[in-house]
Amino acid sequence: MPHTLPPLPYAYDALSPVLSEAAMRLHHEKHHKAYVDNLNKALALHPDYAAVPVEELLRNLEQLPENLRTPIRNHGGGHANHSLYWQVMAPPGSVDLPPSLKRELESAFGDLEAFRARFAETGAKLFGSGWAWLTVDATGALEILGLPNQDSPLSTGRTPLLLVDVWEHAYYPDYQNRRPDWLQAWWEIVDWEAVADRLDQARPAQSPSGEVRASRQAGLEASR
Ligand SMILES: [Fe+2]
Repeated sequence: MPHTLPPLPYAYDALSPVLSEAAMRLHHEKHHKAYVDNLNKALALHPDYAAVPVEELLRNLEQLPENLRTPIRNHGGGHANHSLYWQVMAPPGSVDLPPSLKRELESAFGDLEAFRARFAETGAKLFGSGWAWLTVDATGALEILGLPNQDSPLSTGRTPLLLVDVWEHAYYPDYQNRRPDWLQAWWEIVDWEAVADRLDQARPAQSPSGEVRASRQAGLEASR
């Protein structure tokens, strides 16, 4: 099988009380595993694509054989999204927001509260199932997106930095129908260091304060 369920980077009860051990087990061992199993089933019919990283498949959805696109979008997206999701969470209150990322968020969204309000509102208002995302695009701009189902920002050329699951399976065991309560509690378990690292990797030539990005952008524009 080309794809396997990655272990959680912490114990099943590590995110308690924001997420219970039972909710984490159900989410990881049942839901995430089902995406992996269904992705492998789809790829069994397309062995040429079996060794391609799932992120690469999502980036190039439109180039895939037509009958592979929907399975990759749904099951490949489900696998990639959950794999990233586990990496950007940490035990409650254990990770502070790095000053460099705080400045980035303030610069893009006005202030930290405005960022949090817009992000939570995006998740709360998403109709049906899906995810709220913080992404960075090819120009280095930060953007909040709400995407349905298991759609990935990778498929529109963006790099995901942070995501929250608003499928019912993600919060019903602990929050029932109270999605806004879930989104409020979830801030406690964001691993901001992981988010800052992802932004650094997406913009390797950029200094934390943005000056290098600005000069790089200017250089790019001058060379056009
Ligand atoms: Fe999920």
